[in-house]
Amino acid sequence: MILITGSSGFVGSNLINFFLRKKIRYIGIDKIKNSYLKNINFEKTDISNLKRFEKIFKKYKPQIIIHLAAISGVGSCHQNIDKAFKVNVEGTFNILYLAKKYKCKKILLASSFATDNFYTRPNYYGFTKKSLENMALSFRNNFQLDVGVIKFSNIFGPFSLHKNSAIHQLIKCNLSRNFFKIHGTGKQSRDFIYIDEVVSLLNKIVKSKKLNFINLIHTKKLTTLLDVIKIVNKISKSKTRCKFTRAPAGYDIEVKKNTNRSLKNLTKNLKKTFSWYRSNYK
Ligand SMILES: NC(=O)c1ccc[n+]([C@@H]2O[C@H](COP(=O)([O-])OP(=O)(O)OC[C@H]3O[C@@H](n4cnc5c(N)ncnc54)[C@H](O)[C@@H]3O)[C@@H](O)[C@H]2O)c1
Repeated sequence: MILITGSSGFVGSNLINFFLRKKIRYIGIDKIKNSYLKNINFEKTDISNLKRFEKIFKKYKPQIIIHLAAISGVGSCHQNIDKAFKVNVEGTFNILYLAKKYKCKKILLASSFATDNFYTRPNYYGFTKKSLENMALSFRNNFQLDVGVIKFSNIFGPFSLHKNSAIHQLIKCNLSRNFFKIHGTGKQSRDFIYIDEVVSLLNKIVKSKKLNFINLIHTKKLTTLLDVIKIVNKISKSKTRCKFTRAPAGYDIEVKKNTNRSLKNLTKNLKKTFSWYRSNYK
């Protein structure tokens, strides 16, 4: 049995969709109901409540845990520091504590590339994910728990109406004709990865015999935000209204080289995402 925390979120919903197709046994837990999928195996639970959370372990005896639940993103964490600590730090401790107690076989914890430049750009989200990585390392080394960290780059795709990340925000603004806020010059680049690629790589890690401590899920290609805007404008056949603004605290606007030579794959996946939004974004 696979336990997925944060199962009503963006990655969780796509992962469950995949597990349903592949008939893989899972139980999803989240503090809110899933608004994208119906008839899924689900228990409403807050991971920061250890007593309630333990009941899930007793009932389902999960062998594998995919921990996605979080206050995700730099902005949300910056605005809710106490909540972010409770969920991202204490909640992660609860998972590791229960996984040790109930002798779980494999534990995957979601982290982010935001931890790479934590010491030069120490935003609060990065702090909570750095804590997750340090906790994981100490449980792995001291208690022989098979725990691995998954570092995701910038994911995009369907089941993301609630997300404020750049591509999702951009598509929503394009469709609603609202202004899309570009932090800085727009020349900052990111490694954008499509959710189907993320889910299939996650599944590979779940099935692998040996779990590395750090597992990277990214495309290794950087694309500037201005290039992404151009592609979305082409797909929608309309020009997104853009406004250049100052970047909020902790936001990375460092301009790096664009290393995505062929934009073919990104364009194909942006088309799929845009078409999903056209049918689902009201
Ligand atoms: N989406 C990305 O581009 C990206 C990039 C890097 C890292 N990550 C990490 O991957 C994970 C999944 O990301 P996502 O985009 O699906 O995030 P999301 O915000 O869409 O989903 C997170 C889910 O966690 C749930 N949650 C929050 N607090 C909870 C609590 N106390 N108890 C139970 N559930 C709780 C939320 O209700 C939500 O459904 C997160 O840990 C995130 O930090 C995501």
